[in-house]
Amino acid sequence: LPKTETDEHYILRTNNADSKLALPVQPDYYDKSFPDYRQPVEIGCFSLDSNRQLFNDARQLKYCVKPTSKNPNFNLRDGYKDRYIKRNDNIKEKLDHILKWILLNKHKFPTLSGDDKSPALSNQLHTDFITWRGHLTKILTTPYENREGWMLAVTLFHGTYYMSEVETEEARRQREQRTEMQEELIYGGYKFEQYLCADKPGGNPNPAGVVNTNEAFCCVVRTRLNGHSLVFSGEVDCKDNSDPRLKAPQCYVELKTSREIYTPNQERNFHRFKLIKWWAQSFLPGVPRIITGFRDDNGMVVSLQSFETMKIHHLVKNERNCWKPAVCLNFCNDFLSFVKKVVTHDDHRMVTLFSWEPGKDISYTVHTDRTYAFLPDWYVENMII
Ligand code: A3P
Ligand code: MG
Ligand code: MG
Repeated sequence: LPKTETDEHYILRTNNADSKLALPVQPDYYDKSFPDYRQPVEIGCFSLDSNRQLFNDARQLKYCVKPTSKNPNFNLRDGYKDRYIKRNDNIKEKLDHILKWILLNKHKFPTLSGDDKSPALSNQLHTDFITWRGHLTKILTTPYENREGWMLAVTLFHGTYYMSEVETEEARRQREQRTEMQEELIYGGYKFEQYLCADKPGGNPNPAGVVNTNEAFCCVVRTRLNGHSLVFSGEVDCKDNSDPRLKAPQCYVELKTSREIYTPNQERNFHRFKLIKWWAQSFLPGVPRIITGFRDDNGMVVSLQSFETMKIHHLVKNERNCWKPAVCLNFCNDFLSFVKKVVTHDDHRMVTLFSWEPGKDISYTVHTDRTYAFLPDWYVENMII
């Protein structure tokens, strides 16, 4: 029988011959009161242009334009064949954009000296975790996920844990075997953004333009989950410019598409499996609103609906065996504690690879060859504040 060890706030199992720790994921373990999650603060942003070149500004930020009709008839397939420039997803950028942003914004990290004018020379970011929002979304939803596993590479460098996803074999297979129909649906998600967004405040959307998925606007936020300080970046779809009092990230809006719901069963699946992902993605950076376009099977948007991130859970809590935000956050908190417990060597070349497959505990392997190393030399050499 697996030995169970109770820690202050999480349970770890030692269930293999070399007595490595493993973290269970079952929701029951994490079903307790909501942990402390500090209001995320935007500390910066960056833009990626059509060549995935990074700019330390908001030039790619889009402004959402509310359609006047509730029945907008957007054609999400329009342009798929001839006005689509698709990002090359064989290129793995890992944390590179965030690292570049950090080097350009070192002054935004606290120093121990407390003197803003002449901060002491330091190589510490005084931040526990640096990662992508999307990686945290996957962690948050793990207790309820039963299809897709994940792998996260973690390196401890100058006191900060860097977490970068590694694509699983299964995910790569799925990606390479996508059907034309799946590709067109993915395109539709971006096309929807084009119908709702203008390049400039007060401007109009241009549905006749090209959809280029290389371009992106990303915000960088700082927050804290219990004892873990986090800085992460996430792509932001657009800004609602109608209320100038709203500061980022409160002014940001997430855009989504989903198939029209016809049956109670479809609604249940939407609540149980889709809204959890939408909630986690927007909750993490503090994006308050999600505008959804429901499409029919011809790819036409037939209705629009706005969801408030903080109210999503009220919509779903009557479903049997439904997900709970507190479980997601408690699990994330314990996963981050688990990472701190397991990864203790401060070495930019060393990677601890955390892996999870549905139905299993989270396990890890340690790699000292460069197979999974993801901190580039240009970052390591310049990481002096
Ligand atoms: P939908 O959001 O309408 O599904 P995001 O919603 O995160 O801003 O992403 C924009 C679009 O990118 C999505 O539209 C979807 O088409 C595509 N997309 C996002 N995550 C994806 C993934 N893991 N695999 C494939 N496509 C994805
Ligand atoms: Mg997006
Ligand atoms: Mg979106």
